[in-house]
Amino acid sequence: MGHRYRLVRPSLADLLAGLERGPQIVTAKDAFHLAYLAGVAPGGSVVEAGAGSGALTIVLATLVGAAGRVTSYDRRGEFLDAARRNVERAGLAGRVEFRRRDVAQEGIDVANVASVILDLPEPWAVVASAREALVSGGYLATYTPTYNQLERTVRTFRSLGFDEVRASELLERSLHVGDGGTRPEFEMLGHTGFLASGRRVD
Ligand SMILES: C[S@@+](CC[C@H](N)C(=O)[O-])C[C@H]1O[C@@H](n2cnc3c(N)ncnc32)[C@H](O)[C@@H]1O
Repeated sequence: MGHRYRLVRPSLADLLAGLERGPQIVTAKDAFHLAYLAGVAPGGSVVEAGAGSGALTIVLATLVGAAGRVTSYDRRGEFLDAARRNVERAGLAGRVEFRRRDVAQEGIDVANVASVILDLPEPWAVVASAREALVSGGYLATYTPTYNQLERTVRTFRSLGFDEVRASELLERSLHVGDGGTRPEFEMLGHTGFLASGRRVD
C-alpha cells in the first residue's frame, strides 16, 4: 500500500488496549494500585472475582510471574470464555485457572492465598469468604464505582475484623507538553472507581 511499518513485540499496554471487550475493564492506574494494595508479588497466589474481560487477570498474571498462580472466578460463562481467550492471547494461560462460580452465593473455594481482589457489584457479600481464603497477613482489595458500595464494603471489612483498612480513589490527569506552554489537558476521565483494602491478621 506504499506505507512503511515497524513490527514490535506487544507490550502489556498493547495487550490491554487490544482486548476482546465484554464487561467494562478496570483502568491501568486502578489495576496496578489494586495489585499493590493486595500485596501481589512474584510467586504469589491470587484470587480474583469477577473475571469480566480479563484485563485485571492479565495484569495479575504478569505480576505473579511464572511461579505464581491466579484463580479467576466469574458467574457468567460467556465472560469467562472471553477472559480466557484474552489471557491465552497474552501468553499467560499457564498461570491462570478460570472457575465458573457465583462467589457471593457459593463463596471462594480455594484456601491459603496471599491476595484476593474483587471487582463485582456486591463485594460485601464476598468479604467473609475472602477472609477465609486468605492466609494470615494476606490482603483483600475491592473496586467499586459508587460511594454506597464502598461504604457498605468497608463497614463489612471492619465488622469482620480486618486490619489496616483503607479506602482511596486515583485521579489521573494527562499533561499537554508544549514549548513553554505546558499545562493540564482540558479533558480527563473524572471517575473510574473506589479502592478499598484490608488485611487478615490472626
Ligand atoms: C466489571 S466486571 C470485571 C472486569 C474485570 N475486572 C476486568 O478488568 O476485565 C464484573 C464481573 O463480575 C462478574 N460477577 C458479578 N457478580 C458476581 C458473583 N457474585 N460471582 C462471580 N462473578 C460475578 C460479572 O459477571 C462481571 O463479569
